[in-house]
Amino acid sequence: MKLAGARILVTGATGGIGGALARALAKAGASLVVHGRDGERMRRLLATLPAGTTPVLADLATPEGRSAILAQVHSGGALDAVVLNAAGGHFGLYEEMSAEAIAALIQTDLLAPMLLAHAVLPPLRQRPGSALVLVGSTLGQIGHPGFAAYGAAKGGLRTFAEALSREIGGEGPRVLHVSPRATRTGMNSAAAQAMNRELKVVEDAPEVVAAAIVDALARDRPRVQLGLAEKLFVRVNAVLPGVVDRAIAGKLSTIRRHAAGQS
Ligand SMILES: NC(=O)c1ccc[n+]([C@@H]2O[C@H](COP(=O)([O-])OP(=O)(O)OC[C@H]3O[C@@H](n4cnc5c(N)ncnc54)[C@H](OP(=O)(O)O)[C@@H]3O)[C@@H](O)[C@H]2O)c1
Repeated sequence: MKLAGARILVTGATGGIGGALARALAKAGASLVVHGRDGERMRRLLATLPAGTTPVLADLATPEGRSAILAQVHSGGALDAVVLNAAGGHFGLYEEMSAEAIAALIQTDLLAPMLLAHAVLPPLRQRPGSALVLVGSTLGQIGHPGFAAYGAAKGGLRTFAEALSREIGGEGPRVLHVSPRATRTGMNSAAAQAMNRELKVVEDAPEVVAAAIVDALARDRPRVQLGLAEKLFVRVNAVLPGVVDRAIAGKLSTIRRHAAGQS
């Protein structure tokens, strides 16, 4: 799609990847509706974006929050693209999570983007060449200890994106799924960062992920996985999951040490 002059909603723009994405899209000439929850982070974000950017604060885990964002979107003119990027992370042992925390994570990271997608599809259909971008995670493609609930949400989102894209079949907005690998943002807890350091997990800067999303939009790329090694692991996991089982088993005591007591 042509980004210059396009009107684009970015959810979770007050976060690391969303903020970098908003700045990259603004630089490409898009006009933006930027969403977040935290007022102070929104104020700091707006200071880095062109005047005329529309902010919207809403908790997407609630029906009221989703209605607020949709009201704002509908009142400001037609959208050409929606990037559903907001999410809450979680690193910890599944058995130590409360039932409430599991439900909240699925609500924010899977149900909220599905319901927002449902609401924005009809208006996007009115715009030729429009796009819906779902931001997933490598952890939704490869089940990883310490990320069972988060991986379930992101795995669900990946399948949702694929099914929806095939259902629309070229007669509506393009549905794009972008899957970042570990990225240096506030999403990763101190424990997750310590584990990543010890396991020598490569982390991207948020600007790298933002550039990949801009490229996916500009070139209509339906599936994007960041990282060469991660691309390979995703493929190996799909055809030879036992190989990945063994590779992860060798790191399990380290992962468990960092994940324990985090919930
Ligand atoms: N960082 C990584 O390692 C990594 C790796 C793979 C995929 N991803 C994915 O990349 C996307 C962006 O993550 P990030 O790393 O940029 O995380 P981040 O810096 O923590 O930003 C998360 C964003 O989501 C918003 N958000 C969270 N829960 C919300 C809720 N209930 N209602 C409304 N907004 C909510 C936050 O709003 P406030 O800050 O205003 O509260 C913030 O804008 C997510 O989908 C994430 O799963 C991240």
